Amino acid sequence: DLQWTDAAPVDDVPADDVVGILVDGHDVALYSVDGQIFATDNICTHGHARLCEGFLEGHEIECPLHQGKFDVRTGQPSCAPVTEAIKSYPVRIEAGRVFLALD
Ligand code: FES
Repeated sequence: DLQWTDAAPVDDVPADDVVGILVDGHDVALYSVDGQIFATDNICTHGHARLCEGFLEGHEIECPLHQGKFDVRTGQPSCAPVTEAIKSYPVRIEAGRVFLALD
């Protein structure tokens, strides 16, 4: 079974945008795309940049440092120079709150 951690109110994630939050010591990026919430690690796999300071377009987050891109649904890289996937987390919404399975 997945262990769910209460991460944030759904309302803290602006529509079609990204925010960075700290959950149990994890730096996590939360994305809202067409009313659905996704979560990944917030630190790029290419260098030390926070994806929450990047640019979200559709399901793609663009890193602010070298403009690499990841698919926020899977964490898979979708544009150079990133080659390594970023960790993505299962999301559950309950009672207006975002729960993440961090392990
Ligand atoms: Fe993210 Fe280089 S640090 S693309």
